[in-house]
Amino acid sequence: MKVIKCPKKMHKISSELSLSGKKIGFVPTMGALHKGHLSLIKKSVSLCDETIVSIFVNPTQFAKGEDLACYPRNFKEDKTLCRQEDVSLIFHPSSSAMYPNGFQSTVFPGKLATVLEGKARPSHFAGVATVCCKLFNIVNPSIAFFGQKDYQQFLILKQMVFDLNLPLKLFMCPIVREKDGLALSSRNKYLSKSERADALALFSALSAGKKLIFSGERNVSKIKNSMNSVFSDFPLAKPEYIEVADSDNLSPVKKCSGKTILLVSAKLGKTRLIDNMLVKA
Ligand code: PAF
Repeated sequence: MKVIKCPKKMHKISSELSLSGKKIGFVPTMGALHKGHLSLIKKSVSLCDETIVSIFVNPTQFAKGEDLACYPRNFKEDKTLCRQEDVSLIFHPSSSAMYPNGFQSTVFPGKLATVLEGKARPSHFAGVATVCCKLFNIVNPSIAFFGQKDYQQFLILKQMVFDLNLPLKLFMCPIVREKDGLALSSRNKYLSKSERADALALFSALSAGKKLIFSGERNVSKIKNSMNSVFSDFPLAKPEYIEVADSDNLSPVKKCSGKTILLVSAKLGKTRLIDNMLVKA
């Protein structure tokens, strides 16, 4: 398994691979790999001839005051995990290779990036869309794999691929959870023991919402109230948003019908977590 740092070299290798007829699967990550990432890698390995994983903590998707400096980094362990999963190649560029002096162009995502996470983190999705556009151009994959945990990110990138005629497909893999239901996230590492216990609030709230919908409730205010009340059992978890939305475009719905997604975000101390659940009403 090779580790490539230079974008030009990466592009040359991936162009040669696709010219020779290989189907390239791509898993973009910021490292600190966990079982969620591994599920994306496994899916790529099962569907594609070569799997390329990028490990790059992208500075442009962090706002001032966010956790860029302390974001978990463990390249050695990531490399071991990638090797175990049959990854062909890791792309691990530096910030200056991705954003050299004079860099000035940005992908500006539209309406989808203004709600939920986009409201809480206004510059975040422009950073994500820009780096993914660059990575897609450098790695030249047939399919790129993303996790459902970042559902809004997935919809924004899907829209970008469509709007900018990028020649690849995006594949969304299900959320991987701890035994008790907590969605895996690199940021779970920040949680103290008591915060970790109360982080279950997110999954519990989503499960309560889903249960109500399955029992026939369609009134969104009632569903949101019930999800909100779950947080009183987990005092360290402070909800930021609890939303019931259309899973195609994330617009809030008043009544559940067709495809619905429940989304929550909460803070535990300084750590902000997100989670979601797709519900077919
Ligand atoms: O989901 C992530 O880890 C990041 O947002 C991504 C897609 C790797 C872009 O930096």
